[in-house]
Amino acid sequence: MTSSPADTATSVNKSTDPTQRMFGEIAPRYDLLNHLLSMNTDKYWRWRTTKIVPPITEGPLGEAPILDLCTGTGDLALAYDRAAKQKVKITAADFCPEMLEIGCKKGKKAGVNDHIDWVEADATALPFETDTYQLVTAAFGLRNVADTEKGLSEMTRVCKPGGKVAVLEFTTPRRQPLRGIYGWYFRNVLPKIGQTIMRNNSAAYEYLPESVGQFYEYEELTERMEKAGLSNVIYKSMTFGVATLYIGEKN
Ligand SMILES: C[S@@+](CC[C@H](N)C(=O)[O-])C[C@H]1O[C@@H](n2cnc3c(N)ncnc32)[C@H](O)[C@@H]1O
Repeated sequence: MTSSPADTATSVNKSTDPTQRMFGEIAPRYDLLNHLLSMNTDKYWRWRTTKIVPPITEGPLGEAPILDLCTGTGDLALAYDRAAKQKVKITAADFCPEMLEIGCKKGKKAGVNDHIDWVEADATALPFETDTYQLVTAAFGLRNVADTEKGLSEMTRVCKPGGKVAVLEFTTPRRQPLRGIYGWYFRNVLPKIGQTIMRNNSAAYEYLPESVGQFYEYEELTERMEKAGLSNVIYKSMTFGVATLYIGEKN
């Protein structure tokens, strides 16, 4: 199921999946909110991800493409494209056409859509062949996937042996006083800014702290990545544990 979002005239997502619908509603302001609420730190987290797990541009793995799953408006896919100096093909996939459409426009503006494919796909049933990608990434996306285990097993399946799976997610800082400050900001400040900017579409920014609070962190997610078939799974915390990058290898 490959579609070109640039050709999709959808302005209202009629999906019955509440997550898909929610991202469809916030898509036009997603980038603004992301940068505002994280005080632009989200850009650093994605850049740092490309440094910790760099793209491979030479050898047999260098010929394999990169998959950025739950790509949303494509910022990690575009960061990898810059890191690879346009030498690697990239698939940017998401199940929300409105988010993809914005990503596709950004790719077009940057003049990189000759080697980035914007593909509508569900993370739990990927329309890609087994053992295809040198690197499979998901930034702030896995938390939203209804079935985490299925998402991880699909990411592992489409990764090439010798390749890597990298998951960037919000985490709760482990140390005080940052843990307390972060919890307060997430529960009180962030939903209010979200509500103000989104007006009546406030659900997304109430959903964010809830979804972060409920998602697996640190060792728990590491274990799930191992269960999905990945080896040598490690994690690296960024910005005092506000975001964490999990990396696993496929043998
Ligand atoms: C918080 S956004 C993250 C977007 C982007 N990766 C970033 O770094 O800003 C989460 C994205 O995950 C997508 N998503 C959630 N569940 C999905 C699924 N089952 N399959 C594909 N995409 C999904 C949403 O549509 C949304 O675009």
